[in-house]
Amino acid sequence: MKTVMLIMLLVFCRSAEFRKGKNGGMKNRLNGMRAGRRSTSKRFAAIDCKDYIELKEKYFDCQDKRLTRVSPHWPEDIIHMLLARNRIRRLENDMFLTFKNMKSLDLQQNDIAIIEEHAFAGLDKLTTLLLQHNRLQVVAEDVFINLPLLKYLRIYENPWNCSCELDGLIRKLQLPGSRNLGNYAKCAEPNNLKDQRLKKIKTDLLCEDDESSLQGTKKPFTPYSNIKEVDSTMCHIYMFPKPLLDCQNKDLKKVPADIPPEVFRIDLSRNKIKHLKAKEFLGLKDLKVLNLSSNAIQHIDMAAFSGLLHLRELDLSKNLLEHFDYGVLENLYFVQKLWLGGNPWRCDYNIHYLLYWLKHHYSVEHDGLTCKEPEEFKGWIVEEYVKSYYEECPKDKPTGQTDGIQEVNSDAEDQENMEHMPQHLIGSKVQETFKIIRLT
Ligand SMILES: *[C@@H]1O[C@H](CO)[C@@H](O)[C@H](O)[C@H]1NC(C)=O
Ligand SMILES: *[C@@H]1O[C@H](CO)[C@@H](O)[C@H](O)[C@H]1NC(C)=O
Repeated sequence: MKTVMLIMLLVFCRSAEFRKGKNGGMKNRLNGMRAGRRSTSKRFAAIDCKDYIELKEKYFDCQDKRLTRVSPHWPEDIIHMLLARNRIRRLENDMFLTFKNMKSLDLQQNDIAIIEEHAFAGLDKLTTLLLQHNRLQVVAEDVFINLPLLKYLRIYENPWNCSCELDGLIRKLQLPGSRNLGNYAKCAEPNNLKDQRLKKIKTDLLCEDDESSLQGTKKPFTPYSNIKEVDSTMCHIYMFPKPLLDCQNKDLKKVPADIPPEVFRIDLSRNKIKHLKAKEFLGLKDLKVLNLSSNAIQHIDMAAFSGLLHLRELDLSKNLLEHFDYGVLENLYFVQKLWLGGNPWRCDYNIHYLLYWLKHHYSVEHDGLTCKEPEEFKGWIVEEYVKSYYEECPKDKPTGQTDGIQEVNSDAEDQENMEHMPQHLIGSKVQETFKIIRLT
C-alpha cells in the first residue's frame, strides 16, 4: 500500500513540475504549487503539507505524513522544513540541494539509519539540524562538513555505535566551538561504552578500545551508566510553529539542563518539580510562554526567573506555592498573564509582596489568588485579605476624637461582614499590632 502511494505521489510531483515549468518564474512556480495542490488535494491527502510565512520566513510543515522521502519539487525558498514523525530511512546524496536557503531542518522521529556523505550538500545556510530519535549507529564525519553555519545539531536517542568508525564525528563534537552540537547523545554500543556521552568519551581510546573488545576483554559497566541525569533529551523539541520544548508529563524532578536557547515556549507541566533554583532559565531570551502547571513547586528562588526578559505568560497553577519571596517577580518585565490557581496561598504577611507587585503591574492578568491558609482566611480572595489588612491598621493607631467617630462607623461596617469573616475580626487587633512592628 505504502509503496503504491509513494509511486503515485512521485508521479503527481512530476506532473506538477511540468505545470510549474510552463508557468516559469519563481512566483508563478509557487502559485502553481498551490493551485496544483488544491486541485488534487482530494486524491493526495498525504502530500497536503502546509506552507506559511512567519517573520518573513517560509515554513514548510510536512510532519506526520508517512513520507519516506523529500520531494525536489517543494518550494525552493523554504527556510524551515518540518519533517518530524515521518518514515524516512535514508538521507541520500544531494537530497536537499534545491533548498539552498534553508536554515532549519527537522528530521526527528523518523527511521533514519543511513546518511550518505553528501546528503546535506548545498545547505550553506543551515544552522539547525534535528536528527534525534532516529536509528543512526554511525555516520561519517564528512557528512557535516557541508554545513558551515551549523550551530545546533541534535542527535540523541539514536543507537550510536561508538566504534572506531565514529571517531571523526566524536572528535568534531568535542571541539571547543561545538557547544551545541550533539549534546546528550550516548553510545548504545560497544558494551564498555554503553550510555556514555559522545561529548565525553576519551577519543584517544576509541579505536584502541575497539581492538581490546575484539580480544574479548569486556570491561564492567562504569558506575555512571545507571545515573539518569535530567536533561532535555526526554522532551521533544518542535520547530512548529515556533520552537517549543515539550516536557509534559515526563516525571521530571528538576528543570532540564541544556534547554535550547532559541525556544519560544516551554511546557513543563505535569511533572514533579519542587523547587525553582536561581538562573534556571538564564539565556532564554526568546521565551514567551512557560508552563509549570501541575508540579509540586513549593519554593521559587529569588533569581529563578532572571533572564526571562520577554516572558509573556507564566503558568504556575496547581503547585504548592504559599507565597512568592520578595523579588521573585522583578525580572518579569513583560509578563501579561499569570496563572496562579490551585496553590495553597497563605494569607499572611508574606503574601503582600505578590499583591504589591500586581498592584504596580496592574495590566497583568492573573487568576486563582484565593487564600487557603490560615483557617481564618480560607476562601478569601487574596486582594480582599490585603485590603482588610490595611484597613485595620488605623485602628491600632491612637486616634483623635473625630477619628473616633469614623472608627465606630468602620467597626459597624465590619459588623455587617461578620458572617464572612468572624475569625478575622475576633482577636485580630492583637495580631495586627504585632504585624505593624514587623512592617517597620
Ligand atoms: C558496531 O561497530 C563494530 C565495529 O565496527 C562492529 O563490529 C559491530 O558489529 C557494530 N555493531 C552493530 C550492531 O552494528
Ligand atoms: C499548561 O499545561 C496544562 C496541563 O498540561 C494545560 O491545561 C494549560 O492550559 C497549560 N497552560 C498554558 C498557559 O498553556
